[in-house]
Amino acid sequence: MYERPTMSRTTTVPLVVNGEQCEPEVDNRRTLLDLLRTSLGLTGTKKGCDHGQCGACTVLVDGERQLSCLRLAVTAAGSRITTIEGVADEVPGARRLQDEFVARDALQCGYCTPGQICSALGALTEADRGWPSHASANPATHPRDRGDLTRDELRERLSGNLCRCGAYPRIVDAVHAVAAGSPEAGNPQTGNPQTGNQDGAHR
Ligand code: FES
Ligand code: FES
Repeated sequence: MYERPTMSRTTTVPLVVNGEQCEPEVDNRRTLLDLLRTSLGLTGTKKGCDHGQCGACTVLVDGERQLSCLRLAVTAAGSRITTIEGVADEVPGARRLQDEFVARDALQCGYCTPGQICSALGALTEADRGWPSHASANPATHPRDRGDLTRDELRERLSGNLCRCGAYPRIVDAVHAVAAGSPEAGNPQTGNPQTGNQDGAHR
């Protein structure tokens, strides 16, 4: 009589999360987002749409931004995951970016903010690698340095992250300041006031 092979419903998934090694036993159907939030207790990563449309769940996987709601946790085996809880220690410039978000008031409810920050860090890395965006005037000669990124470039590169509070102008202000290496907002020694975007754009 035929016997159906038994398939395991769980898998041991070796990961490095925020610099710490772990090997959670994961339901094969579980997303990386649910693993982070539920099994590992890293609730800084947010669940918004759960369908890849809002960016709230963005984390860094081996240094690249990814939507954790669209990735099965088992496919991340062997990866290095960085969430908002770990970016300040793991990613150069992350602490400065977080400070800029606070100084420039680039958030209201804050629900989208972890995803915005992880996405911005990933976007700056992509720019450093010379990856063009749809807003690059000429992909063959697009800026090859994060310091050359225009506000339009940043808006496009961050367009996958929605903010229902509409904090877009100040989010772009914060990321642009870090990309350009501007003096920190609100620092009395630099005299750079906390202004927010002046161009009236919605991102
Ligand atoms: S929760 Fe992943 S994109 Fe919205
Ligand atoms: S600050 Fe509320 S959703 Fe962005």
